[in-house]
Amino acid sequence: MIIAPSVLTADLSNLAVACKQAVDSGLDWLHLDIMDGNFVPNLTFGPPVIKSLRNALGEKPVFDAHLMVSNAEDCYMDYIDAGCNHLSVHIEAATHIHRLVTAIREAGASVGVVINPGTPVEGVLEILTEIDLVLVMSVNPGFGGQSFIPSVEGKIRRLKQAIDDQVSNGGRPVQIQIDGGVKAHNIGEIASWGVSNFVVGSGLFNDKASVAENLQHIMSSYEQYNG
Ligand code: DX5
Ligand code: ZN
Repeated sequence: MIIAPSVLTADLSNLAVACKQAVDSGLDWLHLDIMDGNFVPNLTFGPPVIKSLRNALGEKPVFDAHLMVSNAEDCYMDYIDAGCNHLSVHIEAATHIHRLVTAIREAGASVGVVINPGTPVEGVLEILTEIDLVLVMSVNPGFGGQSFIPSVEGKIRRLKQAIDDQVSNGGRPVQIQIDGGVKAHNIGEIASWGVSNFVVGSGLFNDKASVAENLQHIMSSYEQYNG
């Protein structure tokens, strides 16, 4: 299982320091929330900041860019050139999603498709053979610190069944990543639905405890639930 820290709720005035706290806690899949102020009502950072982060953090950490942007089909290469290893693109923001995911893969990055809470999973099933990950949004994108939307459970279970069917027919495995409102109190149950990659923002970066202490709490809850 992977805990992917979302640095959105970290101290963005010290972004590299926040990322280093996560990496030093053993988390080397960093979830970078890219927002353009158009696809979502918030604006964060882009390729120049990512390039600086890559220089500061070295080559080891996986940079997972969650592209909450309206023009991913035009700008995806900028994120790969800036040092991202994985790009997740919203199905809601792509005119030609099949062409986009195959282009990202051909450019050498791993690729995920993101679906918002109101988006049916069926669209993703048509391209399940072309992707490495499905990112199921459990909040409406744009902000950290929101509450988990429990109705995504059914969607996740249907997606897991489709992936299991694909694998049993000799196809590639596909990770299910969840994003939004994941905390110590719900991570165990979410894992039981078939999720193996958990984006956690405010559950790790908050003023209650350090990243390491928060991570320990999350992991012990996960292990308690999943034995
Ligand atoms: C929301 C982002 C999420 C968010 C997660 O648009 O995609 O990654 O930052 O933050 P929490 O874990 O606080 O909901
Ligand atoms: Zn995200």
